[in-house]
Amino acid sequence: MPEKILVVDDERIILELTSMILKSKGYEVLTAENAEKGLEIVAQDAPAAVLLDYMMPVMDGLTALKRIRKEFPCTYVIMFTGKGSEEIAVELMKAGASDYILKPFNNQDLVERLENVLRIRRIELHNKELREERERLLQEIEEWNLELERRVEEKTRALEKAHAEILQGEKLAALGHLSAGMAHEIRNPLNSISLFGQILKSGLAEDQEKSSYADKILNEVDRIDNILIQLLAASKRPRYELELVSVAEVLDRVLESFGEQIVAQKVELEKVFETVPPPILSDATEIEQIFTNLVMNALYEMQHGGKLGIQLSHDDRKINIAISDTGGGIPRENLSQIFDPFFTTKSKGTGFGLSVVLRIVKTYRGRISLDSIEGEGTIFRVELPLG
Ligand SMILES: Nc1ncnc2c1ncn2[C@@H]1O[C@H](COP(=O)(O)OP(=O)(O)OP(=O)(O)O)[C@@H](O)[C@H]1O
Ligand SMILES: [Mg+2]
Repeated sequence: MPEKILVVDDERIILELTSMILKSKGYEVLTAENAEKGLEIVAQDAPAAVLLDYMMPVMDGLTALKRIRKEFPCTYVIMFTGKGSEEIAVELMKAGASDYILKPFNNQDLVERLENVLRIRRIELHNKELREERERLLQEIEEWNLELERRVEEKTRALEKAHAEILQGEKLAALGHLSAGMAHEIRNPLNSISLFGQILKSGLAEDQEKSSYADKILNEVDRIDNILIQLLAASKRPRYELELVSVAEVLDRVLESFGEQIVAQKVELEKVFETVPPPILSDATEIEQIFTNLVMNALYEMQHGGKLGIQLSHDDRKINIAISDTGGGIPRENLSQIFDPFFTTKSKGTGFGLSVVLRIVKTYRGRISLDSIEGEGTIFRVELPLG
């Protein structure tokens, strides 16, 4: 593509002459008779260079030069000036002209100077492009750096979180281990206390008051022992024996063991086995523990009668068991704590029951949920996966 050159001069003859010379050199030539028109053409055609006359009516060459250089920096300007105006030429160069040509000029000189300016222009524009490319690359690097930092930070946070979880897990495991060990150790001396308490008590048969103190001691010892038993159950231990266990049979066994209490409390039992699920590979004692604890809690709520609901069903993925009571329900504010070990609202409770239930259910990758309405009752739902 030939480069576009604009010639701005109020003298027609100059326009014609330069047009002719430049066209013969292969340039595309545009002309304007005054600076205003010239600026319009610059804006529209973006010529590579402008040959601009200094002395012009309406808008003088200097003003036009300044505007072109400011508004269209890619268009280079060569000024025409009259002979003997070197001072002006200096001023023009300062104002951004690339060169100046003294009028009258010779053709050879005009072409050479123009070619020179165009060559410089090409180099400078190329440099500018390179600079811009460099800027862009630097910017891109900067962005990548930021992204990298962000990712490193993200990964660090994830690692920290994982680390904290591991620590928490280890702490819990250590705690379980410790409490199991302690529970064992404490139960032995407790046995002695109980034994000697009983001996003391038998020697105090005729002193009723003292005998009742001995009873109190024995009762408290029993309570401590009970807590320790629960603690032992709560702390993690390997499953002892996996066998094929029928949940329906386990439920029947549990209900049988509470038979007397159910009758005594005048509780109505509503047992619905919709389906009898296939046996699951598990530890029978643990499965029994789940329902024992749930039924025990339910019965506790119905000291003066009520309805105990036991439902069993299954689909191809899981076994569903629901245990419901018509007791006092669980106050909303307690809901988030009932599975915590030690959380109890009972004067003689240990608060282990549900935490053990939760641990066992989780061991078998099951789920437990509940609905409770204060004053109406509670239903616990347990899901145990099949296979
Ligand atoms: N069916 C229920 N109805 C109403 N409240 C319940 C029911 N089951 C559990 N809770 C509430 O949850 C608490 C925690 O139950 P969890 O079985 O863990 O311990 P606990 O029964 O208090 O003591 P433990 O089971 O050692 O005798 C109970 O104290 C009680 O407030
Ligand atoms: Mg309980």
